[in-house]
Amino acid sequence: MKGEIQHFSEPFLGGGAVFFDLAQKFDLKSAKLFDINQELILTYKVVQKDVDLMMEFLQRYSTEYLKLDNDRQKEYYYEFRTNYNHQRFNIDFKRYNENWIPRAAQLIFLNKTCFNGLYRVNQKGEFNTPSGVYKNHVPKILDVENLKLASKVLGIADIESSNFSSIEEKIKDSSFIYFDPPYRPISKTANFTNYSKKNFDDALQFELADIFKKMDEKGNLVMLSNSDPKNENKKDSFFDDLYEGYDIKRVKATRVINSKVSKRGRINEIVVRNY
Ligand SMILES: C[S@@+](CC[C@H](N)C(=O)[O-])C[C@H]1O[C@@H](n2cnc3c(N)ncnc32)[C@H](O)[C@@H]1O
Repeated sequence: MKGEIQHFSEPFLGGGAVFFDLAQKFDLKSAKLFDINQELILTYKVVQKDVDLMMEFLQRYSTEYLKLDNDRQKEYYYEFRTNYNHQRFNIDFKRYNENWIPRAAQLIFLNKTCFNGLYRVNQKGEFNTPSGVYKNHVPKILDVENLKLASKVLGIADIESSNFSSIEEKIKDSSFIYFDPPYRPISKTANFTNYSKKNFDDALQFELADIFKKMDEKGNLVMLSNSDPKNENKKDSFFDDLYEGYDIKRVKATRVINSKVSKRGRINEIVVRNY
């Protein structure tokens, strides 16, 4: 595939692992990056446009935090999180403005100092991940080199907050599209779909499969990943049925984010492709 990808799209951007990897390996001409999470999109746009100014804010938070002992860091974190949640009503997510710059720095700060870098909100939309526990190492809150590189790589991207259901018309013809939706829970207790207020249920998996197929029929390269329900129940062929006729591979993946240590580890994930 090397040399062939010019236009890329990632409708469930999250941490953007695939985008950042491809953007450094291929000479991408354009990228359309979407996520329903407005805070995340705000942050990417700020990293793209105003990374230096954003890093000044992050430097300040980092210095204030790192000079405290463990107990005080915890207090600082919770106070910071409360303020962050209160301020969300003052943010105009529709239009880029100067309030976005500290807001982005605050999300990065929380992401670096919370438990396992987990992004979780409650029903009210409040970020509610607890504080991280750092016994033996100091978290790297401001990574100048990485943020500058991310800003540079994001230069070719259009970044937009959007539900996956309305992206079809926005994606350029002949793109490579990677779908990494919230995982279908692998057990009743695992709750990987809690990134946003609404859960990503099976009805949405069906809707997504329709879009995957349409994008395939339009001549794009499409790839999708998800958890493999067969990890828990050998008879559960949900994705095998949904994506029948496509190439479906099972790959070993390491789950880092799970509240139960015993559930972290290598399990199968599925990768569906039309190529
Ligand atoms: C599994 S994560 C993607 C992880 C990403 N590949 C990475 O490298 O970190 C799923 C993402 O989908 C987003 N999401 C959830 N529901 C969505 C929807 N209906 N439309 C668009 N994005 C959605 C979440 O905000 C989350 O960032």
